[in-house]
Amino acid sequence: MLWFQKKKTTMADRGEKVDDRLQHIAFIMDGNGRWARRRGMPREFGHSHGAATFKKIGRYCEKIGIRFMTVYAFSTENWKRPQKEVDTIMEIFDEYIEDCFREMEDDNVRVRFVGNLAVFSESLRAKMAKIERETAHKPFMLNIAVNYGGREEIANACNELIREGKQEITEEDISAHLYTVGSPMPDLIVRTGGEIRSSNFLLWQSAYSEYYFTDILWPDFSAHDVDQAVSVFYKRKRRYGGV
Ligand code: FPP
Repeated sequence: MLWFQKKKTTMADRGEKVDDRLQHIAFIMDGNGRWARRRGMPREFGHSHGAATFKKIGRYCEKIGIRFMTVYAFSTENWKRPQKEVDTIMEIFDEYIEDCFREMEDDNVRVRFVGNLAVFSESLRAKMAKIERETAHKPFMLNIAVNYGGREEIANACNELIREGKQEITEEDISAHLYTVGSPMPDLIVRTGGEIRSSNFLLWQSAYSEYYFTDILWPDFSAHDVDQAVSVFYKRKRRYGGV
């Protein structure tokens, strides 16, 4: 760095925290494949870097006082990808869970897997359940959406209610049977990678969420980009259908 260049600081560098308007942030982590291709590398390379970014951004969000974070890690549609790519993503999950066990003493992260987990192997599900149990007392809630689809989640909630014998279903009933139950509705949903759509992510929960779209590919997403999304969020007027 040259003497006349001022280092750009982040909210965390300045000791700033978000206020209660921003409790829950969610990310659609898009662009791993393109990021790798631009470097002449296989898509899996992008997912490894995407996983590193995910950890970095999670730590940063916790540092600036966000209490709930949800990431779209694997959708119900992502199984259509080449087997090698699916296998790599599954290996990344497995490694991440191992990391969580190793780092549990030092961090504040409460991990929860949201989605239809029945498709995963028994050993992976056992590990997921164990890390959820062992981090249940931590303050920063991290929901990792795996084999997740918003429509499937709503249908699943309705089926659970039918099994419970409900004759009529209210909005509150559905909210109470979502995979993300216990987390407030997301205030801000960030999608990287340039696409402007929700891709079946948090369909019910996002009714009044603010969206922030950026062309930045997920592996390049940084703490400064979180700050930028937060500052745009604070300029929005949330009216929830009122005036
Ligand atoms: C979308 O980019 C990314 C995914 C479908 C996988 C996301 C997974 C990770 C970032 C790993 C996260 C790890 C944990 C433990 C949560 P894309 O592949 O669709 O990219 P493209 O649009 O450029 O093809």
